[in-house]
Amino acid sequence: MPTWRIAVLPGDGVGVEVTPEAVKVLKTVGRGARVGFEFTEALVGGAAIDALGEPLPPATLTLCEQSHAILFGAVGGPRWDRAPHEKRPERGLLALRKEFDLYANLRPARCFPMLVDASPLKRSVVEGTDLMVIRELTGGLYFGEPRGVEHFADGGSRAVNTMAYTSREIERVARMGFEVARKRRRRLTSVDKANVLVCSQLWREVVDRLAPEYPDVTLDHMLADNCAMALVMRPTQFDTIVTENTFGDILSDEAAILAGSMGMLPSASIGGRVALYEPVHGTAPDIAGKGIANPIAAILSAAMLLRYSTDMPADAERVETAVTRVLEHGYRTADVRQEGTKVVGTVEMGDLIVRELEGLY
Ligand code: IPM
Ligand code: MG
Repeated sequence: MPTWRIAVLPGDGVGVEVTPEAVKVLKTVGRGARVGFEFTEALVGGAAIDALGEPLPPATLTLCEQSHAILFGAVGGPRWDRAPHEKRPERGLLALRKEFDLYANLRPARCFPMLVDASPLKRSVVEGTDLMVIRELTGGLYFGEPRGVEHFADGGSRAVNTMAYTSREIERVARMGFEVARKRRRRLTSVDKANVLVCSQLWREVVDRLAPEYPDVTLDHMLADNCAMALVMRPTQFDTIVTENTFGDILSDEAAILAGSMGMLPSASIGGRVALYEPVHGTAPDIAGKGIANPIAAILSAAMLLRYSTDMPADAERVETAVTRVLEHGYRTADVRQEGTKVVGTVEMGDLIVRELEGLY
């Protein structure tokens, strides 16, 4: 029986509540598919700062290095908002992305038919949405040099971040875009700001140069501001989107509301040695500790783990089916509550999905 070693990093806020539900689901898959999963927990983010003084302690990094995949919760929170830059919980996540060269961040946004009315957008707009945002994750403004703040004698200051991309960095994530689009509806939209930024001009050149290698994929280019508008006006026009780090950060949050709630959206950060799976919603300090967070994003992230790290696509589908069925049966966490549905907490939602999943083996 093969054994997959999974590093479990719940982090802060609701990360601590939803991650155990994803573990529960993977354990169920392990029993059903007769595959071994070995889970080891470690500290990251604010929790690691409090206990050990740094957001990504060496022991956590070592554990991740020795694992096949990382199941991540969320990091950050008001408690650490005033910490100096290098001691912010978010640094833990950014360091993991860089360390493992996780250059492609896959964020699917699909509107579940039964959640159409949970979206603040009109049914006529969101119905049928099924898109994938691929965000470049290890370059651009997040990591570019130089960066920092200088203080002047007159009391003024100047802060610098640098958006920089090499053609190699663009090419590898663009290829990921074409490959992913190929397995979907074969339409790729590359999003940039080529009317203003030289980085984007290079981005567009590189993407165009690769296009002939993927004649089965229809490529178009869109400016980031226009894309922000199109996402909420006609989201069904999109299939696969590929874009640089900062645009992807912003546009993927926007795409999240198409799915009804951020609590539904999983993500996978891949490309490097050890992939990382994480719900998109973050720590949600307003509801943390109440047991009401939606564990579905974390559970669907575990499904992505099965698809991209352990090559178990049929099991990934089982998890997705179990989630869909529980929603069809009318169970909802508070974030997607609607009239006539049964509102359940985090653990209960996890239990319901586990029970449904057991029936699929
Ligand atoms: C995300 C988050 C992170 C980011 C933060 C927590 C550093 O917003 O994964 O989208 O900006 O990349
Ligand atoms: Mg973000």
